[in-house]
Amino acid sequence: MKLSSVTTMLTFVGGAVSQAAAFNITAISAANNTARLECWQLASPPISGRGAVNFDLGDFDKAFVGIIPPNTTTGTINNAAQVQYSLIIAGLVHISTPHSGLPANLNDVWITGGRQGMLIAADLKEIAAQGHVTTFPGSERTIIAQFPIAGNKPPAHRILHAGPCTWKDLAEL
Ligand SMILES: *[C@@H]1O[C@H](CO)[C@@H](O)[C@H](O)[C@H]1NC(C)=O
Ligand SMILES: *[C@@H]1O[C@H](CO)[C@@H](O)[C@H](O)[C@H]1NC(C)=O
Ligand SMILES: *[C@@H]1O[C@H](CO)[C@@H](O)[C@H](O)[C@H]1NC(C)=O
Repeated sequence: MKLSSVTTMLTFVGGAVSQAAAFNITAISAANNTARLECWQLASPPISGRGAVNFDLGDFDKAFVGIIPPNTTTGTINNAAQVQYSLIIAGLVHISTPHSGLPANLNDVWITGGRQGMLIAADLKEIAAQGHVTTFPGSERTIIAQFPIAGNKPPAHRILHAGPCTWKDLAEL
């Protein structure tokens, strides 16, 4: 059997299983002892199952959900208290990293709740003396489910680029 036929057969047996790209997520990371936004590509490979393409996110410690009042437009500079995934379910979040030293257009991200509402916060105080500022300026409540990562370590990843993930990086979500 020629290799091309094997490939065809596997594709057929696999049915609708698609070859998804890796999972990208905006991260509040740190460099030069200040917080900065980066677009990370997680090392977890896509795994087909349950009719989905699945990406392993690891283990969590004491997850919680927060409800933030509408029009929360004043924010103070802060660090991630622990390395965590944030799932913004509803509302609007604005994050800025004013001390990153990167060009200004890379220091800002607006995240609306929903499809592209995932984020990793990893700018712990010990690696970022200057953290990030968060506000929740939506006219409705913002709801965020927080999943602190067991061991307080970011997931294995590579940095796609400085600044938040773009529409192109999140196109398949
Ligand atoms: C850290 O700062 C130095 C000096 O300003 C700069 O040359 C270097 O590129 C910075 N590193 C990163 C990762 O931005
Ligand atoms: C939030 O701001 C909007 C627009 O200014 C306003 O219509 C709304 O009443 C405010 N909501 C609260 C709870 O203050
Ligand atoms: C991740 O980013 C790359 C580069 O922008 C893109 O090709 C890929 O489709 C993205 N993955 C998803 C799941 O959106």
